[in-house]
Amino acid sequence: MKVIDSELMKAYARMAMDGFNQGWHERNGGNLTYRLKDSDVEELKDDFKEDGIWEDFGWQAGHESDSSFSGLAGEYFMVSGSGKYFRNIQPDPEDNVAIIKLNDTGTKFMKVWGLKKGGRPTSELPTHLANLDVLKKRDEDIRIVYHCHPTNLIALTYVLPLDERVFTREIYEMATECPIVFPEGIGIVPWMLCGGKEIGDYTSELMKTHDICVWAHHGTFVCGRDFDETFGLIHTAEKAAEVLVKVMSITNVKRQTITPDQFRELNKPFGVHINEKFLYEKKDGTIGQMPEE
Ligand code: 13P
Ligand code: ZN
Repeated sequence: MKVIDSELMKAYARMAMDGFNQGWHERNGGNLTYRLKDSDVEELKDDFKEDGIWEDFGWQAGHESDSSFSGLAGEYFMVSGSGKYFRNIQPDPEDNVAIIKLNDTGTKFMKVWGLKKGGRPTSELPTHLANLDVLKKRDEDIRIVYHCHPTNLIALTYVLPLDERVFTREIYEMATECPIVFPEGIGIVPWMLCGGKEIGDYTSELMKTHDICVWAHHGTFVCGRDFDETFGLIHTAEKAAEVLVKVMSITNVKRQTITPDQFRELNKPFGVHINEKFLYEKKDGTIGQMPEE
């Protein structure tokens, strides 16, 4: 089967276009990685060219440190190209996407398909692979990592405290479904130089327990088992962020909201355990207040 004709490629390209249509992928913003199943490799391998060169991960200036992803050794990944525009993925996947393979120690990669006019995988590959490495240990079925630039979540990183408890709680209060979709909350990564190992390591530490992280003043990372789940997660969080931005454009004090006990009511019927660290008591309706220590 040609990669270009596969259901996998269609689903990947559809997600890229969905994200673009949401306004989350200006210019070359964002990147998307899918860890192939054995059955995907079996289906597509006749279209792979496995005689290329092995390349290092630390190719970018300022990011010379070597990375190693031993937990992903020998695996294949569909990745967006660095500098490629998400709006161009669906019309021409072969020019904008690559499939790469990691070597037996997880220290180098080889392009086996795509990026037909040249180029490299996304500059955020170290973060994607660091995340996929810890996620695979958490749940073998989590195979997608998606980075985008959603406007409202980014806007909130300028006005809410960069504190996971506060950020998550304010988002939770904007949509009942949020704590059901991400009961472990939103991990916060303070501003750091993107594209390197340091931000990759920091993010992947949070991804050991979270499905969604915000990079302050930059964007978000989410993970999932399939494209629907992954897109649905960031779509839900960004919708709640949009409601919060609208509320904050009217007032910084809420007249009424969802209470901690009301959140607790969700646990049993929805089969979740909303982390209690987000359900602290508030003094009043002021948005963004820190919990009392
Ligand atoms: P790439 O074009 O290298 O994927 O980078 C886009 C981006 O969003 C960087 O954070
Ligand atoms: Zn980015």
